[in-house]
Amino acid sequence: MTDKKISAEQTRREEDLVREVIASFDGTPDPRLKEIMQSLVQHLHNFVREVRLSESEWDKMIEFLTAVGHITDDWRQEFILLSDVLGVSMQTVAVNNEAYKDATEATVFGPFFVQDAPLIEIGGDIAGGAPGQACWVEGRVTDTDGNPIGGARIEVWEADDDGFYDVQYNDGRIAARAHLFSDADGNYSFWALTPTPYPIPYDGPVGKMLTATNRSPVRASHLHFMVTAAKARTLVTHIFVDGCEYMRRDSVFGVKDSLIKQFHLQAGDTPTPDGRDLGGQPWTRAKFDIVLAPEGVDGH
Ligand code: BEZ
Ligand code: FE
Repeated sequence: MTDKKISAEQTRREEDLVREVIASFDGTPDPRLKEIMQSLVQHLHNFVREVRLSESEWDKMIEFLTAVGHITDDWRQEFILLSDVLGVSMQTVAVNNEAYKDATEATVFGPFFVQDAPLIEIGGDIAGGAPGQACWVEGRVTDTDGNPIGGARIEVWEADDDGFYDVQYNDGRIAARAHLFSDADGNYSFWALTPTPYPIPYDGPVGKMLTATNRSPVRASHLHFMVTAAKARTLVTHIFVDGCEYMRRDSVFGVKDSLIKQFHLQAGDTPTPDGRDLGGQPWTRAKFDIVLAPEGVDGH
């Protein structure tokens, strides 16, 4: 907010314009579209008026959005990245996954999910040759009354130790992603890689904006989950590694305290849960119990 004094006549002109633009949408046949457009206009005009946006600043914003459009293609979605770093993606997640009893919190989806990732058995390995420290992940899927959910489809994906998802290599590899199903008691387990921090793509206009505002592109170490089951609300979330130095400055605001988990470091001579031989290398283990809200719930 600037301190500039605005005259009554100037205020009247600005407010008249807002009213006129809002009224131009009065005849919108779809009431939801009308609500969204009129609210958008109100907020956009408030923004321009509040910061007293100069014409050259508006030109710069148009230039920026044009660059966001130019770098966007089937693989690179800079508009979603922009929404992510502005926290709009997370706000939309929050609005659409209302708190319900002890249901596990949702977080941002991200651009690196792939349909039809390999199916693994319970206890299988998602790494597919990706480099990183082995990590045993286990837990139970239940509903909000504590009943086990068997047959829940659990999709997991993560970056490798070099900070890249398989799809970022552009060589067709499929690694560090898979899906599995919980057993009849809701239990699941798998081998993955101990997550490490990595930057979101920052070689485009969104990266420039982060640099200009002294913000880091780095995401706190995490492992992605998407869990679906009959009659349950689909859960898209991550677990985060407790102690990660980026936890309080995740570039897309995805961290929720309830999703921060201990990844207990195990010495190389510690027996693995399934007898797997890790060649004496240290490994980690984490527990993540997943609670699914019923389908179609309104939050309370
Ligand atoms: C991710 O965690 O994969 C991600 C989320 C938002 C933007 C970029 C990457
Ligand atoms: Fe990620």
